[in-house]
Amino acid sequence: MIRIACFWSTIRIVYIVVRTTLFSNALLLAFRHLRGLYRELVEWWRVNNLHGPVPKTTVITTPFSYGLLIAFGHIRDLFRNFIEWWSASNNLHGYAPICMNDFFTRRLYRRVQDCFNRPIASAPDSWIEVVERSYNYLGFAASDEYCTPRVIESLKKFSATTCSTRVDGGTTTLHAELEECVASFVGKEAAMVTGMGYVTNSAVLPVLIGKGGLIISDSLNHNSIVNGSRVSGASVRAFQHNSPSHLEKVLREAIAEGEGNADGQLLTHRPWKKIIVVVEGIYSMEGDLCRLTEIIAVCKKYKAYTYLDEAHTSKEVIEYLKLTCPAHLYATAISPPAAQQILSSIKVILGEDETSRGAQKLARIRENNNFFRSELQKMGFQVIRDNDSPVMPIMVYNPAKISAFSRECFKRNVAVVAVGYPAIKQLMLARVRICISASHTREDLLTALEVINQVGDLVGIKYFPAEPKKQQCKGKWWR
Ligand SMILES: Cc1ncc(COP(=O)(O)O)c(C=O)c1O
Repeated sequence: MIRIACFWSTIRIVYIVVRTTLFSNALLLAFRHLRGLYRELVEWWRVNNLHGPVPKTTVITTPFSYGLLIAFGHIRDLFRNFIEWWSASNNLHGYAPICMNDFFTRRLYRRVQDCFNRPIASAPDSWIEVVERSYNYLGFAASDEYCTPRVIESLKKFSATTCSTRVDGGTTTLHAELEECVASFVGKEAAMVTGMGYVTNSAVLPVLIGKGGLIISDSLNHNSIVNGSRVSGASVRAFQHNSPSHLEKVLREAIAEGEGNADGQLLTHRPWKKIIVVVEGIYSMEGDLCRLTEIIAVCKKYKAYTYLDEAHTSKEVIEYLKLTCPAHLYATAISPPAAQQILSSIKVILGEDETSRGAQKLARIRENNNFFRSELQKMGFQVIRDNDSPVMPIMVYNPAKISAFSRECFKRNVAVVAVGYPAIKQLMLARVRICISASHTREDLLTALEVINQVGDLVGIKYFPAEPKKQQCKGKWWR
């Protein structure tokens, strides 16, 4: 008996010693990442079937590239830990680091940071002084004959900011007019305007639902929705992206099981106080349009509310939000020039400027998008999701190709938006987003397509065969 006890004590001591050495820590971390990579691989195979077949070389080289980056990252961390341990003589020794720089940020993101953080140096028109990217779908963000003089006037009349919350001194006549205009634009009785989309979701959801409630969220919803849901204290469950049938399954199961705690663990079998299904109109990283009619039909069947990011709602809810929502009560009001810009843009879209510019812009954005998307597809790029969507992701997958594509396009005066983890939940589904605007002319688009075509060949991200020459667009300009 004593011998066995001694044996186990020795094993334990050896285990503790080994466990606490730098080498074993690195091994454990590497093991954790390998496990993560394995899960990614399983997801990768699943999504591969979703987005269409990707060449076998890409399927093999993408996980291999990430594996290599992770392995090198751990070796570098090992040296870093050793050097820090060796030279640890400062008076913060023993404190936890203030900035928790995780492995991904240190060893993967920082190597390609230049592709993500290019500052802008002009108004986001069809051509911009990049150093950056911007979404300017309808081309209102640059100088506009109707909006700009009115914005300048509002700056003189109201100043650049109210420096106050809406409930104190932050509501101007412009804010009131804007809310009326937004409400009538979406065909509702009332609207509440906040300074940004992020705040709308993260501050509105927690006042609509709380403990005892259930949020059923699309698995690819924006981070502002994820955070708003967490803060609300409600239980949160996800349904497969844009799948009404899976939503129905999740809803039915949740109603049958009844109320649970925030992790969905302890079930009380009491009915949920409220159920809200949260979706987006257009998914910003995917580019697909919400299957809203089918989703609303499912929600109605089970008496669940639908929360659409691009929200529209009733006067009663707006009044409630104005009394409870922290974004209205505590955050500085939207600045008067910004309010005026939105107001004027909506008026142009509605034709209240007595021109047809608004209608032309709407037609132009759709035409530009569909032209650009179909030309990219003819060249052999894998452009995912729906026609008519202004969000246009080209799949890249490989980590080295993301930075190469972004930098090579940038050298040739085309700015693309590189999107990877954590904006995309799956590490291996990296992509670049093309932001088309109504203000782009056909020449602008052709110039960009030519550059993207060249760089696509150079970097090797044309995963599908190009369309035969005779079917290409008139002039076969890109061959
Ligand atoms: C679906 C969705 N919701 C909310 C936001 C956040 O909006 P904002 O940039 O105005 O904070 C974004 C931003 O891209 C988004 O795509």
